[in-house]
Amino acid sequence: MDKLIIHGNIPLQGEVRISGAKNAALPIIAASLLSPAPVRICNIPHLHDVTTIISLLGQMGASLTLDERFNIEVNASNVNCFHAPYELVRTMRASILVLGPLLGRFGEADVSLPGGCAIGTRPVDQHLKALQAMGADIQVENGYIKAKTKGRLQGTTIVMDIVTVTGTENIMMAAVLAEGQTAILNAAREPEVEDLANFLNTLGAKITGAGTSTIVIDGVKELGSGTYHVLPDRIETGTYLTAAAITRGRVKIKDTRPDILDSVLLKFEEAGAHISTGTDWITLDMKGNRPRAINISTAPYPAFPTDMQAQMMALNTVAEGTGMITETVFENRFMHVQELQRMGAQILLKGNTAICTGIDKLLGAPTMATDLRASASLVLAGLAAEGETSVHRIYHIDRGYERIEEKLSQLGARIQRIPSKD
Ligand code: EPU
Repeated sequence: MDKLIIHGNIPLQGEVRISGAKNAALPIIAASLLSPAPVRICNIPHLHDVTTIISLLGQMGASLTLDERFNIEVNASNVNCFHAPYELVRTMRASILVLGPLLGRFGEADVSLPGGCAIGTRPVDQHLKALQAMGADIQVENGYIKAKTKGRLQGTTIVMDIVTVTGTENIMMAAVLAEGQTAILNAAREPEVEDLANFLNTLGAKITGAGTSTIVIDGVKELGSGTYHVLPDRIETGTYLTAAAITRGRVKIKDTRPDILDSVLLKFEEAGAHISTGTDWITLDMKGNRPRAINISTAPYPAFPTDMQAQMMALNTVAEGTGMITETVFENRFMHVQELQRMGAQILLKGNTAICTGIDKLLGAPTMATDLRASASLVLAGLAAEGETSVHRIYHIDRGYERIEEKLSQLGARIQRIPSKD
């Protein structure tokens, strides 16, 4: 397992290009199972999770070809296996995203039940309940979700008990080929949900309202072919903005979408950053100043994203004043706190709130990544810290950040990937 070694305390400066969004690319690749015609998907990020979903679709009989720019052509005309094995699902929970498309097009799916994970129990009851309401027969046996339907799924009105991103996506995908109209109320409004709907509409689906809390899908008999460009990653964008803010530097982020980052950009301004934006770029300049502590409460979009919580916690560790961060989406997403404390951070945990009093300088230390965004927060802390920080188990980071050490090096960071046995 590789580790990252960082020599911190250098203000980052320069430009960085943002990759396609992991959390849009994964459902879009899964959704290509819905069409018997070839589909081309561009701006796919080069990430471990993407490789996992590609091999999952390959095992099902789809043919996937990648060009040198990591654009993917998927041909799902010969899919003949509807099985997502435990061995793959346990490495990536997002594999559950094949459930809706398989059931919608083939009337059958056999998908391993994802277990709990480092950030919470993460059940999939909402996915299953909605598919049952559409007429699917679902049994959970031997750790597998065994779903079947006679004929097409039936459109209906579904009220989600809680806002769930992949839950909304699974139902939307299942409804595309269902008979009649499906309405999803209390749907997730995340830009990645809207991107998936735009992709499906490109192939001939009839979806309206994505990006709002009511999504309406009029079932069609078959999808066709099409080419689609995945939207930029807003969490990768926010992470590089934090890298500049935490080191009192300045950065220009290119190939991004400021319009889907309102809640995050407002928090950087509260922290004292000077922000400018254009259609596809953002600049952040700290003018050499120490950030101010900020208060955050995570919640579904358009509120502050849970996927940026750990990075903002790193920022608060070196900020002026005391900031409170409340995590409302996942029950156990504070695993980075103990690691940040090992670098000297002053953080007190009270239930689902972390109260952090900023200190002048963190001190480099060996640290251990526990999940994707927690690892990002440790890299960020290492960039600000005096001395050497090592971040172990960075396979977590490779799941969601494309070439992170190269992109940070371009900004002037001293960061190196070292093969490691532990
Ligand atoms: N939940 C249920 N029942 C369900 C579904 C969800 O109780 O059937 C709960 C979850 O346990 C959680 C909350 O609802 O407490 C929200 O979970 P959600 O279903 O929205 O999360 P997800 O779809 O599993 C996606 C992203 C996550 C991101 C969350 C929240 C993908 C592939 N993953 O997960 O991304 O944190 O939405 O925005 O889109 C990441 O990229 O690091 C990551 C974890």
